Amino acid sequence: MCGIIGYIGDRKASEVLISGLSHLEYRGYDSSGVALMKGSDVQIFKAQGKLNNLIEILKDKQDTCSNAHIGIGHIRWATHGLPTTINAHPHTCDCKNLTLVHNGIIENYQELKEELTTLGCHFVSQTDTEVAAHLIAHEYGKTKNLLKAMQSAVKKIKGAFAFCAIHKNEPDRIVVAKRNAPLVIGVGQDENFIASDIPAIIEYTKKAIYLSDGQVGIVKKNSIEIYDENDLVTQNKIENLPFEAIAISKMGYKHFMLKEIHEQSDVVRNVLSGKLLSHDDKIRLEEFKLTPEKIKKIQRVQIVACGTSLHAGMVGKYIIEKYAGIPVDVEPSSEYIYRETIADENTLVIGISQSGETADTITAIKQVKEKNSHIIIITNRADSTMARLADSLLPVSAGIEVSVAATKSYMAQLISLYMLAIYLMEQKGIEKYNDEIVNLKQELIELPNKVEALLENTDNIKQLAKKYSSYKDFIFIARGINFPSALEGALKLKEISYINATGYGAGELKHGPIAMLDENMPVLAILNRGIVYDKVLSNCEEAKARQAKLIGVADYIASKDKDLFDDIVIIPSVSDTLSPALNIIVLQLLAYYIAEYLGKDVDQPRNLAKSVTVE
Ligand code: M6R
Repeated sequence: MCGIIGYIGDRKASEVLISGLSHLEYRGYDSSGVALMKGSDVQIFKAQGKLNNLIEILKDKQDTCSNAHIGIGHIRWATHGLPTTINAHPHTCDCKNLTLVHNGIIENYQELKEELTTLGCHFVSQTDTEVAAHLIAHEYGKTKNLLKAMQSAVKKIKGAFAFCAIHKNEPDRIVVAKRNAPLVIGVGQDENFIASDIPAIIEYTKKAIYLSDGQVGIVKKNSIEIYDENDLVTQNKIENLPFEAIAISKMGYKHFMLKEIHEQSDVVRNVLSGKLLSHDDKIRLEEFKLTPEKIKKIQRVQIVACGTSLHAGMVGKYIIEKYAGIPVDVEPSSEYIYRETIADENTLVIGISQSGETADTITAIKQVKEKNSHIIIITNRADSTMARLADSLLPVSAGIEVSVAATKSYMAQLISLYMLAIYLMEQKGIEKYNDEIVNLKQELIELPNKVEALLENTDNIKQLAKKYSSYKDFIFIARGINFPSALEGALKLKEISYINATGYGAGELKHGPIAMLDENMPVLAILNRGIVYDKVLSNCEEAKARQAKLIGVADYIASKDKDLFDDIVIIPSVSDTLSPALNIIVLQLLAYYIAEYLGKDVDQPRNLAKSVTVE
């Protein structure tokens, strides 16, 4: 989380920085700030809250803004210290000569702070970044050279960082450094850019250098010099950026989340394109680099992911185990990294991440890379850190997802996992499910039309949202392949409406959660036709007997069972296996309309960030 930006060239730095920060707001929106440098004069402007507050402040500072052509900026997701102006970046040292922005977490900041305090430094904020600013300034005192100061400071820092630093005595450069946090340098003509992510710079340049961990660089108007962790000059490849400047707009929708929900039929088409040509064709997955012989040797699959991506992975478990016949463990990356995991060259590890920058999942993947397992990364960002760690990269191409609540990327992950499961089955030569798979492929081909049919009329879901928006708690239940749908539906609702929502396997209700049921607790049950339909129905009876309000989401409910429910949402007819892809749309919309009805900040819910780059 947090986003950093830097500019050096002939443009008005303030404009480039603000435009860049607006594209990084998905990384946090607790505060923002810029430092504008002209000669040895550095002016710092900061504001608590959304970027608009900073834009308002800068309106009165047009002189400074017009004259400065070098600057650094920051958008914050608070880790150390409250989201106040004082804790907002940029941060400086006592003499104010050095100014720094930072994305990441400095783990040994307390120790460093104590040392620096004994050396006479004074701290005004509660941030770890201010400690880094003082440390670099202290090192600068020894060499009077910003590059060298940065090089020696980063050797003393434990943790993750992407830094941009400027110094009044060296007004022709920005010095950058990176370890375990993303940093890209956009290469321009007589100008250069620095950012946490390419949407911030894509409107200015299509060429970029990705810094590797441990590297430090000097970015000037006409040159970029990179040094490796041994302080030796090194050359990084200049890469062509993977996407065109896209007008990221709401296209008439009130929120990005609603627009992204409505894009899901195209997302399915994109993922299937080139992979699934017809119901009687084999899946083509050129991106998967293991030979059929090696696939046959896979003993186990481990899926690591967080949040919504984790829920996609849980659906993946059902289909990979069933069709490919391989045992699958799914685990939150944040848990996977703190225990002895068993993986070897016959283990297939699947990392799933919309952003490709989630710190927990990156750490998990790095750990398992040492065990020679084959690593597949399923991500929406083929240019991400995680993508670079992949042995096989499966980009899901859902398009830029702006809303913090993941929707269309989940759909893309689900469909990719269906492709992968069938591919593994076919490569292993398993024939047991051939007929079922022909039907599933045909259903996948028809899925975009069903998604469109579902989205065509959502009035009933809007009505439900209004009816249930005043409840303080919510329970989602399902069994089998839709258990992850219940978890994901609850996550969507709580993250954007702040209603306390929890997902349970419906069979678990009676083992404790049922104690919470009364007329104030709505229960949303997902019950597709399949082996668990009758069981979920019994669990619904149990809930109703405790006077819970009951909402059913299903592709079919028998007339005799309808009276059990207070409300029912019927989705287009679909097999149990593929039903998570349609059920989730109802749950996304319900969460969206409840949050919208309650007047919440749907696209930027409190306390969250789109890309979670800290552990
Ligand atoms: O970028 P990732 O998919 O790795 O992100 C994982 C989670 O942080 C993310 O899914 C989060 O739970 C979303 N806010 C859910 O809507």
